[in-house]
Amino acid sequence: MVLNNKKILIGITGSIAAYKSIILIRLLIKAGAEVKVVMTDAAREFVSPLVLSVLSKNKVHILWHEQNEWNNHVALGRWADLMLIAPLSCNTLSKLAAGACDNLLLAVYLSATCPVVVAPSMDEDMWHHPAAKKNISLLKEYGITMIDVNNGELASGLSGEGRMAEPEEMIHFLIERFFRSTQLKGKKVLVTAGPTYEAIDPVRFIGNRSSGKMGFALAESFYLAGAEVVLVSGPTHQRTAYKGLSVIQVQTAEQMFHVCDEHRDADIIVMSAAVADYTPSITANQKIKKNGDELNVTLRHTKDILQHLGTNKRPGQFVAGFALETENEKENAILKLTKKKLDCIILNSLNDEGAGFEKDTNKVTIIDQKGMLELATQPKQEIAKQILAYIMMRFTENDHLPKQ
Ligand code: CTP
Repeated sequence: MVLNNKKILIGITGSIAAYKSIILIRLLIKAGAEVKVVMTDAAREFVSPLVLSVLSKNKVHILWHEQNEWNNHVALGRWADLMLIAPLSCNTLSKLAAGACDNLLLAVYLSATCPVVVAPSMDEDMWHHPAAKKNISLLKEYGITMIDVNNGELASGLSGEGRMAEPEEMIHFLIERFFRSTQLKGKKVLVTAGPTYEAIDPVRFIGNRSSGKMGFALAESFYLAGAEVVLVSGPTHQRTAYKGLSVIQVQTAEQMFHVCDEHRDADIIVMSAAVADYTPSITANQKIKKNGDELNVTLRHTKDILQHLGTNKRPGQFVAGFALETENEKENAILKLTKKKLDCIILNSLNDEGAGFEKDTNKVTIIDQKGMLELATQPKQEIAKQILAYIMMRFTENDHLPKQ
């Protein structure tokens, strides 16, 4: 899990957005983090400490002392790998800016030796007030990171800027900014995903059922491993929440070829797109009208992007492809491995239950010149992590990376 063993201290202040901390903590725990909570007295009005304590599996800290026991703010501040104050009310914002220390949360913040992140939450007019702006710029000067507010529905019933970021957005922000691994730092990875659409006329196209889920999962895994990732995607509904992961949308095999060729300097290339092998020789300018019993569309071969990249591979580069087969699966995959001069091929069989298009799970076999590794049916995110681990192992073996 991405946040395994990471210690996150959540600070909650008095704002209606405090209800979102329930989801936030739940998601952090699911991502593997250890969570502790410190909240202001006012925050208690918006979210129950009991719920937060159950979810975080820890005692919630509110007062300087409880049952004759002193709450050690220094220890709490030093325990955390990261402190996230969410929501940050206008009142606490001004106190952080001033260095005030009239509650436990402020004392913990002042004692924190880890990075501090704030997610402000206030009504639009308060957010735009010069005092709030000045306080925000002071926090930035102190080295505090801010998760930008959203534009949306506000507690006042108005709509505008000042709405706290959603819990999922905050978690992606934290992972991206503070918790990406450095395993592949300095390395560039090119991934393709999804289908391609080959136009017959302005209305129709030839496409396939690829959802892009596997390619997106792979791109995110490489991104979290620290690589610079370029994801070239055909038309899909998939989106990534990681802002630094660059996604280039294309429609056709020809467009995908050109974008991939521009990025052929990547250290690792993983082609999971279901690229059309044929495209209409002519795309009609106008919608083709019904006429007679038959319609013939002449198709011509598209360029094989993977074969182009595999055969032009530079020393040290690692090129992996996918093979989607319905019969003689392993034999066909091995033929593609050799023909396209790949470092490895990842075989999907449509005959396997839990594998293939549009599904959330997959079942693959990784094949290279040294052997095969069959992976059990798992969610595509898990499969992506294991493919990454396999590629990393081979990449390191080949001395592409400095050994740690
Ligand atoms: N591929 C590609 N460009 C193409 C066709 C395929 O880059 N024009 C890549 C796919 O992204 C995949 C691999 O080649 O990584 C194998 O694709 P697949 O459809 O399984 O095989 P094909 O080579 O197209 O052969 P066939 O359709 O005959 O099985």
